[in-house]
Formats: sequence, C-alpha cells, structure tokens
Amino acid sequence: ADLRPFNTFGLPAYAALLAVIDDAAQIAALIARPDWADTPRLILGGGSNIVLTRDFPGLVLKVEIAGRRLVGEDEAAWYVEAGAGEAWHDFVRWTLAQGWPGLENLSLIPGTVGAAPVQNIGAYGLEVAERFHGLQAVSLETGDLLQLGASDCRFAYRDSIFKQALAGQVLITAVTFRLPKRWQPVTAYADVARELAARGVEPPTPVDVSDAIIAIRERKLPDPARIGNAGSFFKNPVVDAATLARLDAAHPDLPRYPQSDGHFKLAAGWLIDRCGWKGRNLGPVGAYEQQALVLVNRGGATGADVQRIAHAIQSDVIARFGVALEPEPVFV
Ligand code: EPU
Repeated sequence: ADLRPFNTFGLPAYAALLAVIDDAAQIAALIARPDWADTPRLILGGGSNIVLTRDFPGLVLKVEIAGRRLVGEDEAAWYVEAGAGEAWHDFVRWTLAQGWPGLENLSLIPGTVGAAPVQNIGAYGLEVAERFHGLQAVSLETGDLLQLGASDCRFAYRDSIFKQALAGQVLITAVTFRLPKRWQPVTAYADVARELAARGVEPPTPVDVSDAIIAIRERKLPDPARIGNAGSFFKNPVVDAATLARLDAAHPDLPRYPQSDGHFKLAAGWLIDRCGWKGRNLGPVGAYEQQALVLVNRGGATGADVQRIAHAIQSDVIARFGVALEPEPVFV
C-alpha cells in the first residue's frame, strides 16, 4: 500500500499490508490471525507527526473510528467523547458549536483525536493533557480493552506513555475530554493577546479565541494540504539556569520561558533562524519562511532528505549555541 497520501510530509514509502480500522471490534480478528505475533505494526492516524524513512515491512493500522457525543456532565464540566479517527480540528469546532468550550487554543492542529494524547498536542498556552479525562484503547498483544486516566498516560511536554513504554502496543480507540463550565480564556501567549486586541474582541468568547488562533496559524504555519510538513520538527529545548546564563551573556534577546522546576524552555525556531536556516533549503527540504522550526517538502523529498537537513540544522545549532535539538515527530 502506498503511504504517501497518508503522511502530511508527502514522503514516499510503501507498507506490505494496510488495514483500515473503523470499529474497535476488528482488532480481535487481526490478533487471532496465526501470523500476528510476527507482523510488525504501525498505528497511523492523520499521519501529521511522522517521518517515513523507508518502506514498512509489516501491517499499517489506519485508524478511522468515528463518533462524537456527550457522555456525562457534572457541576464543573461536560465530558465529551470522540472516536480516535475523528479529525481533530473538526472535533474542536464541533465542541465549540455545541457550547462546550476549552479546546479552542488547539484549533487547526492537524491530525486525529486518537493521536492528540500520544504526543500531548499543545499550542498557545494549552496542552491537551489539561482537558483530558480518559481514553479507551485495545492491547495489540492480548486484545484486552483498557481504560486509562490522565495519570496513567504520563503526559509531559510533547510526550506520553504512548511514545514510551506503550509505544506500538496499544491502539487508542476513543478519547474523553473534560470541558470546563466555568471557562476562562487562555490568552497569555503574546501572539494571541495581540490578535484578539486587533480584532477588538475583549473579553473574547471561545469561538473568538478559536478564530484568532486559526488566523495566527494560517499566517505562520504551512497548510499540509498544500506544502508537505509535520509541524514543528524539533522540540523546544529545556536548559538549566547555568546554561541560560551562559547563552544570555552572548544573546540577551534569546527568548526563554521559565519552567516551574527552575529550568528554561528555549525557542528552537529562534535558534535555527539565528543559524541562518529560515527560508533555506538543503536539497528538496527547507526551513519554512515564516517559521524556521517547520521543515517543508519543496517537492519530491524522501525521508533521507529530511534526515539530512535535520542533521545539518542540529549540528549548526550545537556549534553556535551548544544546545542539542531533539526531533519532535516519530521516525519510522
Ligand atoms: N522564532 C524566530 N524565528 C523563527 C521561529 C520562531 O525568531 O523562525 C521566535 C519567535 O519570534 C518567538 C519564539 O521563537 O519569539 C517562539 O516562536 P512561536 O511562538 O512561533 O512558537 P514555537 O515555540 O516555535 C511552539 C510549538 C508549536 C505551537 C506554538 C504556539 C513546539 C515544538 N512547538 O512553537 O507547536 O503551535 O508554540 O504555541 O513546542 C507543533 O508542535 O507541531 C507546533 C506547531
């Protein structure tokens, strides 16, 4: 099966086998096959956070489980469940249309509902972990149904147990979100505050915040439907106070975000930009003109081309700043 249409970077790769999963019950039949234990597996949602570096010799499980509904309500929150295959942004806009706020800062993020907890998607001051209630998954080893709560998922910055100990072992089938009844807009992020002020919507409604964030993202981030990319290509690095002091002495304008544990998160895009990579290509892959942290496929790129520019950027950032950049998408 050709995987090019199923990865937003538009990288060429073939899978030996592909199964579309639109019902959790299908998984039991797959597990019952005699060759199951020996077949490598790759779980695919929207394909917006992967870099395919070669053909995949096993079975791709393309998750298309649909459905979205209110499953409960208490004084403080609405509990809303969605099938893992629902498109994330459509789900966000649907919750807002129902009058259930809370996910608006995560508007226009590509990908599916089931992928959202895997890398704990985040943007503009909010991570999905903060609105997460629980999820259902199927063990690909035993076929058992699993229910996981927030603490089980070990959420961290762009990370969870699904990228670590449980990687490849469970398939998320549905996710439940806890959407607050006493809603407060999350507008501390400078771009968001500026956009809302420019629109004259203060105090904003949840839909105002969503609309503002859509506008910001459309200006800064390439639309994967038009230019192949996987969003931010590196995580923002976290450094200790001594490292920050050293960097600050040479680069007082370095953006830094203090963390609760005394460390500082830096802006990888700024570091890459300062190394001269913004808008620059290496072969058919480049750093996007409006946001150097996003690598884009200029046409015909392979996974090897992506790895080549990624390594070149990492070594330039190390040489100039002494800071290591860790890729954010999953390499296959
Ligand atoms: N910057 C530059 N040059 C660039 C890019 C950025 O100087 O080419 C500077 C900006 O001016 C700003 C700082 O770097 O001072 C941070 O930039 P920005 O606000 O665009 O956000 P980011 O840290 O680069 C992160 C997330 C994005 C998320 C935005 C908004 C990561 C790895 N990325 O980017 O998430 O949308 O914040 O919250 O944490 C993603 O994960 O795929 C993603 C797009």
